[in-house]
Amino acid sequence: MAEQVDQGRRQLLTAATTLTGAVGVAFAAVPFLASWKPSARARALGAPVEIDISKLEPGAMLKIEWRGKPVWVVRRTPAMLEALGAGDSLLADPGSEQSRQPDYARNPARARNPEYLVVLGVCTHLGCAPISRFEHGDAELGPDWPGGFYCPCHGSKFDLAGRVWRGVPAPTNLEVPPYTFAGTERIIVGSDGERAG
Ligand code: FES
Repeated sequence: MAEQVDQGRRQLLTAATTLTGAVGVAFAAVPFLASWKPSARARALGAPVEIDISKLEPGAMLKIEWRGKPVWVVRRTPAMLEALGAGDSLLADPGSEQSRQPDYARNPARARNPEYLVVLGVCTHLGCAPISRFEHGDAELGPDWPGGFYCPCHGSKFDLAGRVWRGVPAPTNLEVPPYTFAGTERIIVGSDGERAG
C-alpha cells in the first residue's frame, strides 16, 4: 500500500516538474523573440530624417531629433567660416583625426557644404547639451571667443565646426552624423547617399 502511494506521488511530482519545465521554456522564449524582432518604433527611430532648410537664415540654427539624439544644422555666414581659420592653435583636434565623422566631413569646415554645419548636439565629455554662443567676443566667454558652442556642465568649448578646444574636459570634436543633401532645400540625416543637387 505504501509502495502504491509512493508510486503515485512520484508520478505526480514527475508530471509537475515536466509542466514547470514547459512553462519555463515558454516564458524564456518570449523575451528572446521580442529582443531580435525590431518594433515599428525602433525602425522609426533609426530611419533617416529629412530637414527642410529652405527657411534657415544665415547665422541661424535648426534643431531636430534623429535616433533619439539632438542634431543641429547651422547655416554659417561668411564671417563664421572665416572665424574657423583663426584658431587652429587653440584646438585639440583641428584636423578631426581623433573624432567621429564621415570621411566627407573630415575637413576644416567638417561639412559636405561649408555653408551648413550638421552635428550631434551632445557634448563628447559626459553627454550634456552644449549651448550655442555664436557671437564673437561673447561677454561671458571673453574677447577672444570666436563664436561656437559652450557646454555649461564642465566648461568645454567647441568652435563653429564643432571642434573642441584644448584644455577642456571634452576629449573629441562634436560628432558629425551621416547626412546628404536632397536638392538645395533639404538635408537627409541618417543617409550617406550621394548628393542630389
Ligand atoms: S558634459 Fe560637457 S563638459 Fe562635461
